[in-house]
Amino acid sequence: MTEPSYLAEVRESYDTVADAYAALVKSPTELDPLSRSMLTAFAELVQASGQGPVADLGCGPGKVTAHLAGLGVSPIGIDVSPRMIELARTAFPDLPFSVGSITALPFADDVLGGILAFYSIHHTPPELLPLVFAEFHRTLAPGGRLLLVSHVGSGEHRRPEQAYGGLPVSFESYRLPPGRHARMLNLAGFAVDAQLVQEPDESLTWKIASFLAHKPTVDRRSPGAESFS
Ligand SMILES: C[S@@+](CC[C@H](N)C(=O)[O-])C[C@H]1O[C@@H](n2cnc3c(N)ncnc32)[C@H](O)[C@@H]1O
Repeated sequence: MTEPSYLAEVRESYDTVADAYAALVKSPTELDPLSRSMLTAFAELVQASGQGPVADLGCGPGKVTAHLAGLGVSPIGIDVSPRMIELARTAFPDLPFSVGSITALPFADDVLGGILAFYSIHHTPPELLPLVFAEFHRTLAPGGRLLLVSHVGSGEHRRPEQAYGGLPVSFESYRLPPGRHARMLNLAGFAVDAQLVQEPDESLTWKIASFLAHKPTVDRRSPGAESFS
């Protein structure tokens, strides 16, 4: 498939801010207790299902990927930004990292035991999310687990000119209502097992939502699901 045009802006922006982002982003052990718990529950569920490796999609500088490894799963980090992947490989030389996009995952069908998308889908235009969730569904093994964590809101989007200490960026950020993510996941064939919405507070700047889901062993997709946005 031809690369969607917004991806060039995302790649270029994250290449520009990668070093600053890596220095600023919290270590997963410093995250709020609920976010840490979701990561731990996800790793435990993946281990219990006894399936294959876990893809950390939009892994950035790899800190969460390394945290997953510490929780006992076998992670593979994927990111569209070559600079992010370079930083991840330097910081965690024993873990596998590759450049790739969530819109066309570099995996065969049914091979992953888990997928983590941790703050990596909010630059994807909402009309392309069904395609992204179809890729998640295609590559997860039946019984495989998904943990999706994203900024949410009431549907607004913005195009910041600067980020991460004033560096220039040109991507858009979308904040969808959490019910929309859940509906799209269902239509992509996932069973959504748990949803957690966290309001902003002293440790969270934005409202966020986490979705724990799995790929059922029986295909639940209905014809036309891919066109839903
Ligand atoms: C806010 S950072 C989060 C990084 C990491 N998950 C973390 O929590 O530290 C968003 C990351 O998603 C990546 N990203 C955005 N769109 C992507 C896409 N289509 N495919 C792969 N990575 C993408 C960006 O390059 C960036 O590294």
